[in-house]
Parts: sequence; structure tokens; C-alpha cells
Amino acid sequence: MGVNLRGRSLLTLLDFEPEQVRHLLDISHTVKAERLTGQKHQRFQGMTLAMLFEKRSTRTRCAFETAFGEEGGHPVFLSSSDIQLGAKESIEDTARVLGRMFDAIMFRGFSQETVETLSEYAGVPVYNALTDRFHPTQVLADIMTIEEKLGDTSGLNLVYAGDGRNNMANSLMIGSALVGMNCTILAPKQLSPEEELLATVRRLAEDTGCEIRVTDDRREALPDADIIYTDVWASMGEEDRLKERIELLTPFRVDSEMMEQTGNPGCIFMHCLPAVKGNEVTVEVIEGPQSVVWDEAENRKHTIKALMIATLL
Ligand code: CP
Ligand code: NVA
Repeated sequence: MGVNLRGRSLLTLLDFEPEQVRHLLDISHTVKAERLTGQKHQRFQGMTLAMLFEKRSTRTRCAFETAFGEEGGHPVFLSSSDIQLGAKESIEDTARVLGRMFDAIMFRGFSQETVETLSEYAGVPVYNALTDRFHPTQVLADIMTIEEKLGDTSGLNLVYAGDGRNNMANSLMIGSALVGMNCTILAPKQLSPEEELLATVRRLAEDTGCEIRVTDDRREALPDADIIYTDVWASMGEEDRLKERIELLTPFRVDSEMMEQTGNPGCIFMHCLPAVKGNEVTVEVIEGPQSVVWDEAENRKHTIKALMIATLL
């Protein structure tokens, strides 16, 4: 039987099976090829998408808006300073109202519970466009980019250096486990992934034949890495912790020496962006030949379009 995701939400990739992720990636590669060859479609004609934002966004907002709009759909941007959500109206009530008017809802904000409650009450697909805990649409784009640059992900070694308990570290561990890619979180002990999530991801990795490792030792993590990934040291909403993070994370900065320590000249550098150049990554690396961050950013659009095709049509 073929994979059918019609009507499904994406709240975390933990809810998806490996073959469902494969299905989304296959559609992503197809829609990117269509775009590059100038093919136009109107798959979302007559459809509407509510886009709820409690936090800022460049890539994710533009990816959803352009992917939905260029296929004839009508995306509506709703920031938390414009709508009643969080002020005069509960999440449950907002979800039920939006669910009557829109074909799908995307949410970017703080709490994972908010996106889960939206999904419970809306009656239409809800997409997590980043919460404090997960950033699943980013990881779809990351895996697509890795496939483009390095081919089959199974058996590749991804090393994430930085804050090991943020939304990107959490989502990269899950995404890696789903596609059989080894994932090492290189982080100080104070910022190691949460044990419960780690245990869940490791069970998944056993099924797909890969390993999820956690270490604070560069000599253990870096040899044979195919991908070095990093993210900001203070995520949105944590800006007041930046000083302590700089102290903790400076030894984990991605610089040329770290790239060389992989012993792999074909190793690529990835970052979800936006980047604080000079903190988590040096200018030399992010602007250098191993960096694939602009392709990664572009692929947000293709993977998000694929997600909406799979769940709405
Ligand atoms: N990577 C990412 O989610 O970027 P934005 O915050 O600009 O959406
Ligand atoms: N961890 C970052 C990711 C931004 C795309 C944040 O939450 O701010």
C-alpha cells in the first residue's frame, strides 16, 4: 500500500514512520525539479492557510507563504500582536474558529503544547513551524539537502555541535534516526539532550540501524563526520542566557580546525540560520566552500510545499 498522509498534522517527526518521511522527501525532490524547470501548478487553488506567529521568522514564513501562494493558495499571516490568541481567546477556541475558515494552520511559537492543542481542536492539518522543543520542517529540508550533496543518508555521520537540548538538536536526532543516519550531539554536559527523548530516539535508531551518540569530547565526535551542523547559542526567547552560553559553548564553535578534525575533506557545514557569525560558526566556515547553508534555506520551501501536498490533497 502507498503512503497516505492526507489530513495529517506535523507536530514532531516522532509521529512519522520512516517510509512517511521518505514519501515527503520524494515529493520534495519532485517539486524542486518542477520549479527549476519552470513547471507551474495550481495545486492549492481555492485553499487557505492560517499562519500564526508568536516569534519572528524569515525562512519559515517565506517558505510557507511562497510555497502555498505560488500554487494558487491564499496564505494569511497572523502575528500574535494582531489576533486574540494569547490575549482574549484560548487556544482551543482559536483552533475551532480557524478550523472552520482555513484548510490548514501553521504555528510558530514557544510552547509545544500550544501546537498540540491547536491540532486537537482545529479539525484541519496543523504544522509545527518551530516551538521551543521541535523544528520538524527544518529537518526535512536538512535531510533533503544532505541527499542532494552526499546521496543516501544511511550510514552517514552527522555531528551537531552546540546547544544539545534545543529544538534543532532534538529534531536532528529524530530526523537522523528516521533516515538511518548516525547522529552525534557534541555539547557540554550542562546542555546534553534530555534523557527521555534520547531513549525514545535510540529505540527508533535501533530499528533503522544507526546510532545516536552524545559526547563533550571533540576527539570522539569529529573523526569521519560527513556533516557538521550548528545552531545559535541562545534560541529565540532565551536571549538573557547568552552570556552564560558564550562561556559554555565557545569550545564548541565550528571553525576551520573543527572542520579539519573530521579528517574528511568532503564534510559539509550546515546551519538552520539565522546565524550569529563569530559565535557558533566562524565567517570562514559559513562563507567557505564546505558550507551548504543557502541550499538548505532554499529547500525549506520545497519540503514545506511537499508537506502540504501530502497532507492537503
Ligand atoms: N531556520 C528558520 O526557521 O529560519 P526563520 O527563523 O527565519 O524562519
Ligand atoms: N534554535 C533556534 C532555531 C531558529 C530557526 C531558535 O529557536 O531560535
